[in-house]
Amino acid sequence: MRVAVTGANGRLGRALIEALEEAPFTGPMGPIAWSRPELDLDTLTADTVGALIARDRPELVLHAAAWTDVDGCARDPELALRRNGEATGAIAHACAAEGVDLAVVSTNEVFDGERTDGVGYGPHDATNPINPYGASKRRGEELATAAMSAGGRGPGILRTTWLYGPPGNDFPEKIARAALRARDAGQPLRVVADEVGSPTWTPDLADAIVELIWEDALIPEPGAGPAVHHLVNAGRASRADWAREVLRQARIDVPIVDIGLADFPRASTPPRWAVLEPTPLPSGEPMRPWRDAFAHAVPALVRSITGR
Ligand SMILES: NC(=O)c1ccc[n+]([C@@H]2O[C@H](COP(=O)([O-])OP(=O)(O)OC[C@H]3O[C@@H](n4cnc5c(N)ncnc54)[C@H](OP(=O)(O)O)[C@@H]3O)[C@@H](O)[C@H]2O)c1
Repeated sequence: MRVAVTGANGRLGRALIEALEEAPFTGPMGPIAWSRPELDLDTLTADTVGALIARDRPELVLHAAAWTDVDGCARDPELALRRNGEATGAIAHACAAEGVDLAVVSTNEVFDGERTDGVGYGPHDATNPINPYGASKRRGEELATAAMSAGGRGPGILRTTWLYGPPGNDFPEKIARAALRARDAGQPLRVVADEVGSPTWTPDLADAIVELIWEDALIPEPGAGPAVHHLVNAGRASRADWAREVLRQARIDVPIVDIGLADFPRASTPPRWAVLEPTPLPSGEPMRPWRDAFAHAVPALVRSITGR
């Protein structure tokens, strides 16, 4: 089976390519990596994506490319809608016309994060984005669903949260570097404690997506509407909890002071409750707890911050 990945040079894209290279259903040609030169979200049309499909002949497209700069999206909501919304719609039109399956990677930010009952958002909860990034991702979900459903088989929608993983420069690395600067300055590190989510390691997420493909569970049955999957490492943490775990596992001894979201103004308003209730995987095994997953990321993190 040939699977094409958009955003193949991104954090999730590269994990997907690696996982697909090892997948039992991948043939000798390997997965198809589509990155910005082949597929530019600013210029693509259904026709140019159709030509790409005709050239590379994938049976499934995993759409992981997106404008993920949430503050940039807040400053230019129209551009966000074009890149994350309309471009996803054009990709879906091309997939539907060519009879190719499509799964779109999306986000907890389609939800408002106002939930206070301690339960993660499920696939059937009402979406209500509170920032332009979330609105643009929801538009992508909607346009993909409309185009693919009209073609007979709805899309897979893969929602996830708080991604980190190779090539680094992610939340754990930024926290570790900020902690070292704080230590040099003799200061504690201030981290937001009232934003809670599910830290998710991209290699684990990519493995879960491969499992869904292998078990034929990624894409819905014809006529069934979208198959919405919530894929996250198990458990939840505030940003401050996550930062404490980073420093504990990386053995950086710097105190953390809890602050509120209101103390950390930024262009985009993040949902306070970024927790997704994981949907079952075919194996019946949930993705592992986020702390266990993070342990696998620590050696690369330590190498990166120490330069060794
Ligand atoms: N990061 C998170 O915490 C998070 C959480 C939930 C959901 N998601 C979703 O997960 C998916 C993957 O995110 P990620 O964390 O892997 O993000 P990422 O590292 O920023 O990767 C995004 C990819 O999209 C590509 N891209 C951006 N703008 C583009 C454009 N105008 N034309 C063509 N390609 C463009 C980038 O290409 P270049 O490599 O050329 O820049 C990059 O390869 C996205 O759909 C995102 O919305 C992310």
